[in-house]
Amino acid sequence: MPRREHKIAVIPGDGIGPEVTREALKVLRTVSEKAGFEYQTVEYDFGAERYLKTGETLPDSALNELKEMDAIFLGAVGDPRVEPGILEKGILLKLRFGLDQYINLRPVKLYPGVWTPLRDKGPEDIDFVVIRENTEGLYLGLGGIMREGTPDEVAIQEMVNTRKGVERCVRYAFEYTRRRNRKKKLTLCDKANVLTYVHGLWRRVFEEVGKEYPDIEKDYAFVDATCMWMVKNPEWFDVIVTCNMFGDIITDLGAIIQGGMGIAAGANINPQGVSMFEPIHGSAPKYAGKNMANPLAAICAVQMMLEQIGEDEAARMVDNAIAKTLSSGKIKDLSARSGLHTDEIGDMVVRYI
Ligand code: IPM
Ligand code: MN
Repeated sequence: MPRREHKIAVIPGDGIGPEVTREALKVLRTVSEKAGFEYQTVEYDFGAERYLKTGETLPDSALNELKEMDAIFLGAVGDPRVEPGILEKGILLKLRFGLDQYINLRPVKLYPGVWTPLRDKGPEDIDFVVIRENTEGLYLGLGGIMREGTPDEVAIQEMVNTRKGVERCVRYAFEYTRRRNRKKKLTLCDKANVLTYVHGLWRRVFEEVGKEYPDIEKDYAFVDATCMWMVKNPEWFDVIVTCNMFGDIITDLGAIIQGGMGIAAGANINPQGVSMFEPIHGSAPKYAGKNMANPLAAICAVQMMLEQIGEDEAARMVDNAIAKTLSSGKIKDLSARSGLHTDEIGDMVVRYI
């Protein structure tokens, strides 16, 4: 059988991005040898340093180059020296939009041995997936400011939803729920009682597309109630589909109930194109360069990337190694203050592989 080869772009980025990326790549190297596939990485230096030196965030030429890759791994973007929004919009959102990664898939899974702030809840209760629309909604940035700095200032930022955009996301969510094959329940999280136009569209599309999936149970939850139930009864959820903004908010809540930002990963997926994998914790500048950050979220992102590029066996090996690392009892908490170094945790995962 010919050996498979993958071309992977790596953007270590800012803050703790490079440190956690180093561990993620160490795990990738190990698992590739075990599972028998080859890959090539191409590193890109997009981030604060490059922006401060050249004024450039992500050139269009790079976007075109990235389209030829099999996957993209992203460490983190964001730096206190740069005005908020420049790197986020100029790099992260430009990648998501430019590569039409219209799904942001964020598993919320409590591994055995991990502490959750939810009393009386365990791994059997906290295991669901949030599918966040990733290219529309409030993130489109359509709008503007008038009479800036005066008492009559007006600021408008539109929530844009297209039928095409909503439909492809909702359809992906139904397909995913079927493939996941657990509770076979899909919850639409919205605010259709107030945002009657935009979330009215989501409801209509959800009902229409849902007719093609009689095997999937349909459920509805307003976003405020979703937050309550994620804390009170997380076991009710299997898959949640939601708009860009709400998905952003509820997945930070999801991260903390699965043990913290140190374990939460996400995939920005274009099912017909190139997808990007990232820990969702951001650049955490105060821990940068200290070898303190937990690399498990980045390693979880590698696991998701392996699944996407068809290396299922390797993905399972990484998942098992993460589970063993966590149940070993050696990592007391998943924050940067666990007492373990970034590379020590990476080494533990490598040993279990
Ligand atoms: C995330 C982040 C980003 C977002 C920021 C950094 C633009 O919070 O991936 O959840 O809002 O999507
Ligand atoms: Mn976020």
